[in-house]
Amino acid sequence: MTSSVTVRVPAKVNVQLAVGGVRPDGFHDLANVFLAVGLYDEVTVTPADALRVTCSGPDAAQVPLDTSNLAARAALALAARHGRDAGVHIHIDKDIPVAGGMAGGSADGAGALLACDTLWGTGATREELLDICAELGSDVPFSLVGGAALGRGRGEILTPLTVGGTFHWVFAVADGGLSTPAVYAECDRLRAASGTGATSADVPDPEPSPALLDALRTGDADALAAAVTNDLQMAAVSLRPSLTATLDAGTGAGALAAMVSGSGPTTAFLVEDEAAARKVAAALQASGTCRAVRVTAGPVPGAVTLPAEGAT
Ligand code: C5P
Repeated sequence: MTSSVTVRVPAKVNVQLAVGGVRPDGFHDLANVFLAVGLYDEVTVTPADALRVTCSGPDAAQVPLDTSNLAARAALALAARHGRDAGVHIHIDKDIPVAGGMAGGSADGAGALLACDTLWGTGATREELLDICAELGSDVPFSLVGGAALGRGRGEILTPLTVGGTFHWVFAVADGGLSTPAVYAECDRLRAASGTGATSADVPDPEPSPALLDALRTGDADALAAAVTNDLQMAAVSLRPSLTATLDAGTGAGALAAMVSGSGPTTAFLVEDEAAARKVAAALQASGTCRAVRVTAGPVPGAVTLPAEGAT
């Protein structure tokens, strides 16, 4: 009998985040180009009498352990669909920055879902898993599939994208998190204040950038740097003005592009290669404008089940 299952799930960066107007349901239509990058959470599930979540890692104290945690909600959703008990111990070994705009919570939801499916032998189809992911949150389906993808709708309707190379990134982790709903609300407020209006009737439909999709296809970092955009960046910086200094520090050190990652406050720096990544990382560290610096690359695969310990 399987005693535990561990799934590894990557973080993401949005190389394009085009935000449409606010919809009647409160969400925003997006053209959201996701790239999975090599920072990972590992989610381990073990049979238990009752549902329980624990977390380890440097930011573990900031992770909720109740049913607001997407990993717990994933286990409950799968159990409910299959008419079974959700008694499981979910342990999250967390390396993705918490509330940082890198889909760490979504990664844990996708990871717990895949791990429980394997542990329980549920046999859910890929479509069913993706449906549950979409119920859990807009970014959760991408955490399951990884690689690179265009997300339409609220980000949950995915089309996989071909990427012709590896892109190198440096991430600067800020002190504390930013609430995603608060950043979207600030985006709406800034739009309304500027006189353009914030609803779907006022804001043009978000569209993916052909130049950006081309840059991904050809693996051209300079072309990608010229095309990256994040419509939430102004809102994140408005709520956290100190991010400007972090962005400037990375640009000053030679990053090809500097941007807020998703809803922030993590900032993302696209660089030419590993040597440039080390240089930009050292400059960011020395700048004193961030809490931690991470160097990684993408695309990487989505959620994968790791071989059981002791397996040959
Ligand atoms: O889907 P998820 O639970 O991650 O969304 C969190 C919040 O982010 C939503 O309640 C909403 O305020 C905002 N959001 C949005 N439009 C999206 C995705 C998220 O307004 N496409």
